[in-house]
Amino acid sequence: MKLRKLGSTMNLKGKRVLIRIDGNVPVVKGRVQDGPHGRIARSAVDINWLAQRGAKVIVMTHLGRPNGRRISAYSLKPVAKRLSSLLGTRIQLARSVIGKDVEKTIEHMENGDVLLLENLRFDLRETQNDSVFAEALARLGDFYVNDAFAVSHRAHASLDAIATKLPSYAGPLLAQEVSVLSRLEKQTKKPFVLLLGGLKMTTKLPIIKRFIPEMDTLLIGGALANVFLVAQGVTIGRSVYEEEAVESARELLRMYSDKIVLPTDVIVASSLRKDAHRREVLVKDIEKTDRIVDIGSRTRKQFQEILEQAKTIVWNGPLGYCEIPVFCAGTRDVAKVIANQTGKATTIVGGGDTLPVIESLNLADKFTLLSTGGGALLQFLSGESLPGIEALNM
Ligand code: 3PG
Repeated sequence: MKLRKLGSTMNLKGKRVLIRIDGNVPVVKGRVQDGPHGRIARSAVDINWLAQRGAKVIVMTHLGRPNGRRISAYSLKPVAKRLSSLLGTRIQLARSVIGKDVEKTIEHMENGDVLLLENLRFDLRETQNDSVFAEALARLGDFYVNDAFAVSHRAHASLDAIATKLPSYAGPLLAQEVSVLSRLEKQTKKPFVLLLGGLKMTTKLPIIKRFIPEMDTLLIGGALANVFLVAQGVTIGRSVYEEEAVESARELLRMYSDKIVLPTDVIVASSLRKDAHRREVLVKDIEKTDRIVDIGSRTRKQFQEILEQAKTIVWNGPLGYCEIPVFCAGTRDVAKVIANQTGKATTIVGGGDTLPVIESLNLADKFTLLSTGGGALLQFLSGESLPGIEALNM
């Protein structure tokens, strides 16, 4: 795939550049949860680059799923605050997404100014990929830049329809993600190890199916492993698992038992509270009232040995219940092992749930690629096309 990219020789001075970012991060008590390597922080680098070149930068993003309603909890005020602190200047938040008011505000922008439009999803036409809405957005800019890999799997107006209305380019962050991921598709050095955790098998099944014939090992942890354990007839007590995925897990185990590695021991707790009583047990010894909350020490060692032999590692999803830090030790250990492999192996890590763990360990810049994408990453790696990226194809 060849993307139209923003060239460094392009004259952007005085041009209105509409940049789509993915500022969709959790908001807690009015503050965005976005660390130094978070989605907003990484987009801010590119926004700053445009502003430094004298562009009038108009930033677009969604936040949550307000379904076309103007709900104050989904206002982009916290995103504007975060951008202001990252860029070291007050970033104005427009009161609406499109319309005369916004157009007027843009008329008054100086070169190098940055304006944030309100939540795109306050208008239902955004998710409907509506052409008239895209037209109204396009009126606000001279160029369009998509820097939002993480939402490019959605055929929405600010990602897809808009690209037909303006000269459109891939932003640096999106271009970098696509470039590393495309390389992975072309030549995957072996041994190739895929490590998957998290909860949902249905979202991971396409990537498993796509890569399992060529990969060497599929390591599975987190609640995802529970489905496979159930498929093997293991008692998992009160642990969560996706019931409708058991048959798929059984089928995978039937066909690829030589490639799939499941936890042999786990940490179980009596409840999902941080002060709950915890034990490390072999999977065959899990009791009816237990909940699996992490992988055990033998499993960590086994995963480590396999990861240390790998030349390509792709990791998505935590291996325990990381909402509670004491249940996240396995995930932290594995993150360190993978970071250590970078250089010796191509290491690709993604998924919103893993990022906070990685940031807390100061490992964010220790991977070949720390993707901003969750669903988008899985979809890209599953070989499906992403409308937002297709729209930028030369
Ligand atoms: C994400 O967080 O994965 C993206 O921002 C997409 O969000 P969505 O699933 O609400 O479309």
